[in-house]
Amino acid sequence: MNRKWIFSCTLFVFTCPFPSLTSAELNAVTSEDDKLHQLEETLFHITKREYPEFSTLVGDHQFDDKLESYSRESIDRRVEVYIELLKAVNNLNFKALTRPRRRDADILKSYLQTYINGYKWKDYGALSPMTPLSNMLIQPVWVPAGNYYKMDDYEKYLSRLAAIPGQIRDVTKLMQDAVDRETTLYKKSLAKFSQDSIDDLLAMYSFPIRDVVDFTELTDAQKSDVQNRSHFHLENMRRAYKDLSHFIENVYKPSTRRTEGLYGLKNGTEYYHACLMYHLGYRVTAKEIHRVGLQEVELIHGKMKEVMRELDFDGDLSSFYAYLRSREPNRTADDILNSYKSIITERINPTLPQIFRSVKIPPVRVQGVDKPGLMAYYGYNTFFINVRNPEEQQSHTMLAIAMHETNPGHHFQLNYIANEKIPEYRRKLKKYHLYSVPFREPTYTAYSEGWALYAEYLGEELGLYEDPHERFGRLTMEMFRACRLVVDTGIHAFGMNHSEAVEYMKKYTDISYTHIETEIDRYITWPGQSCAYKMGELKMRALRKKAEEVLGSRFDERDFHHRVLAAGPMPLDFLDDIIDEWLEEYETQSTLNKASSILYKDGVLLLFVFICFYYLL
Ligand SMILES: *[C@@H]1O[C@H](CO)[C@@H](O)[C@H](O)[C@H]1NC(C)=O
Ligand SMILES: *[C@@H]1O[C@H](CO)[C@@H](O)[C@H](O)[C@H]1NC(C)=O
Ligand SMILES: *[C@@H]1O[C@H](CO)[C@@H](O)[C@H](O)[C@H]1NC(C)=O
Ligand SMILES: *[C@@H]1O[C@H](CO)[C@@H](O)[C@H](O)[C@H]1NC(C)=O
Repeated sequence: MNRKWIFSCTLFVFTCPFPSLTSAELNAVTSEDDKLHQLEETLFHITKREYPEFSTLVGDHQFDDKLESYSRESIDRRVEVYIELLKAVNNLNFKALTRPRRRDADILKSYLQTYINGYKWKDYGALSPMTPLSNMLIQPVWVPAGNYYKMDDYEKYLSRLAAIPGQIRDVTKLMQDAVDRETTLYKKSLAKFSQDSIDDLLAMYSFPIRDVVDFTELTDAQKSDVQNRSHFHLENMRRAYKDLSHFIENVYKPSTRRTEGLYGLKNGTEYYHACLMYHLGYRVTAKEIHRVGLQEVELIHGKMKEVMRELDFDGDLSSFYAYLRSREPNRTADDILNSYKSIITERINPTLPQIFRSVKIPPVRVQGVDKPGLMAYYGYNTFFINVRNPEEQQSHTMLAIAMHETNPGHHFQLNYIANEKIPEYRRKLKKYHLYSVPFREPTYTAYSEGWALYAEYLGEELGLYEDPHERFGRLTMEMFRACRLVVDTGIHAFGMNHSEAVEYMKKYTDISYTHIETEIDRYITWPGQSCAYKMGELKMRALRKKAEEVLGSRFDERDFHHRVLAAGPMPLDFLDDIIDEWLEEYETQSTLNKASSILYKDGVLLLFVFICFYYLL
């Protein structure tokens, strides 16, 4: 197992495809284009240098002995670096670039500007890294991505272990600052530490020493040296985590903010709007999102009632949900995983060529998760499904969930761009540390999540939701994302409290109580993130409608999908330009069937997926 794992990591390093520096069609503008390319590369290098754990995750091991700094100085330094880089981008001669590269330059500007604008909010969420969701200090996912062959690799790993207590002390200082400035999190957004969770954490850190050391090139003397020294560091780490836990319990927790929503903080509503802007990539008010949410909930509710009539069901939504639950067979976790596997391979995959050109995507793994938490998520080429309570799984929502997380949703989207010319910094986005939003590098949430929700909708066009129950299941999932618009904005901008939010979600959706709790806590912890799904999907559907209107019978959705996907992650307002450009090409009768095919080479695609952190439902 471990050996296999080491090999796949090696493969990774050697097959790492760097974007090519020159390209025939760009010869005319080589010098400006080269400069832009260099700036894009520089940004990616800076990202890896500033976030060394991320560098390890993307298979670049040059910073394997370093850790991310959580000091105040590092915050200021990063902004300075980005300001310098932005100056250089602004100095480019934009006129000398082709339209796609000019757009790339604009996206690069927007990326840097997002972080620079976010600096205004450096005293808010950025001061409180200890949220339970995707946090490198409590989920050190970089550990298994490291190199563990030679003594030198182990020296680097030991340097990292030695540095963790300092990292934890810096985090504590930041959190103390949040207490002093009254910009703390709500109590439910705090990671909980117990004796057991610290033990689990240290077990994760000791993985390369405990489980991998036997497969290395180390001599026996070196092995015991590594073991001995790591033991020393792990004990220091235990003390540091205990101190942090003590600080959280005794200092931070008593000072957590009183309101679930950001509105309770100084300038909280403005802060929330900055979070929305961060996740959506275009400017829209909380009020507008709330209005769209209420409208969508009404619309979807209407469609649900139609399905209920179709089934001659005489009753309200909650009694229909109860009826659906009563139809569920008694299933084991394995039954559930097998159902998902057959949905993906037998039902979804064969239909994809109808709406995409040249579809060759590596298979997705399906894996059960047996612990409390999110219902389903995707990452590392794997679709994770929570099977802790198999009776909570609903047959009628499975197809929609599978389409969202796998094909043509996240798994498909991430693999589709394998051979596209997309700068590495956008191909390999750093998906964790959302606690710091909007003072953070962009993750383009609406682009990825909007697409995944649009993918659920595509099942309708493909005729995949055959049975009315399943069609209803899709509407349930859509309803769930529409409710988020109401609830996320309700909590953060309009004073909705936790129990009101739970009530609202229960009224329209059929998510089990434990999952709703997790959901609401997530909206509280990641303000605005949950709005990206429905808002992103609406934007994509609006662009599609526009293209259909302009092209009429010439509209081919395979081309539309290619344009949206091949462009890679970006702020949604750039998608307008991409679609406009495509429509203009039609006007000038340019060739359209150049959509590149996706060639899957073993190992290469693995890279693209491995680097991506989790995508949630
Ligand atoms: C482990 O390290 C300590 C101090 O660094 C040293 O005193 C001890 O002899 C070492 N033990 C082994 C087995 O190497
Ligand atoms: C908060 O609002 C006040 C008054 O409008 C303003 O002076 C201050 O700069 C704002 N702070 C932030 C972080 O926006
Ligand atoms: C479901 O099946 C399991 C074993 O297969 C059984 O123990 C359990 O009682 C069943 N539950 C119901 C509600 O039928
Ligand atoms: C939430 O708001 C409702 C309605 O305003 C109120 O009745 C309830 O007491 C509140 N719950 C909490 C826990 O504050």
